[in-house]
Amino acid sequence: MRKFAFAGFALVLVVLAASWVYGELAYSRDNPPERYQGVILSARSDEVLRRACFDCHSNETRFPWYSHLPIVSIVMGEHIRQGRDELNFSAWDRVSRRTRAKWIKESREEVGEGEMPGWDYVMFNPEARVTSEELAWLESDAAALFPDRLGRKNGKRNHGKGGEKDDDEDEDDDEEDEHRKRERD
Ligand code: HEC
Repeated sequence: MRKFAFAGFALVLVVLAASWVYGELAYSRDNPPERYQGVILSARSDEVLRRACFDCHSNETRFPWYSHLPIVSIVMGEHIRQGRDELNFSAWDRVSRRTRAKWIKESREEVGEGEMPGWDYVMFNPEARVTSEELAWLESDAAALFPDRLGRKNGKRNHGKGGEKDDDEDEDDDEEDEHRKRERD
């Protein structure tokens, strides 16, 4: 019995050591150099984004000491990798207006549904919780910045002739996106 307990303990140690090495090697804590220092939505909304989203959706991630713990490092590293992949506010300057509107529209939805920031993140970073007042700021600042796409009267925009124009605009922006993508590759 004792032998098994020892083998089990040794196995746990080996797994922990291996996952620690993997976490250290596979996930860099060096933030990519690109930054955006300008205003995204507004001073008050940007403060919320910085506080609640930037750790996973920018190149200004803060890495706490526990980001070096085995397993934690992998979970955290994946969150950051996938988060930046979805939207990276540090690239705000480089992406098209359409992409910006998409990021903000989705962000508004995710925060509104309580999906973002994730509960596990909020558990360790309670200050990241977004209040309903802050969500209202995000919504009104987003509507002011993208009245054509995120305005409160959005539902009406496809009535009459306006709708077609919007579609054309989207296509132009698609091309712009494609072009930028090619430039980067
Ligand atoms: C702990 C890391 C983390 C934080 C903090 C975080 N996110 Fe995310 N976010 C992710 C990950 C990982 C994904 C991709 C997987 C998913 O959709 O759950 C994601 C996806 C998203 C998406 C795309 C959703 C979709 O399915 O299209 C949006 C929009 C988003 N996040 C907005 C935000 C906003 C806004 C905040 C701040 C209020 C925030 N996130 C905070 C990790 C994070």
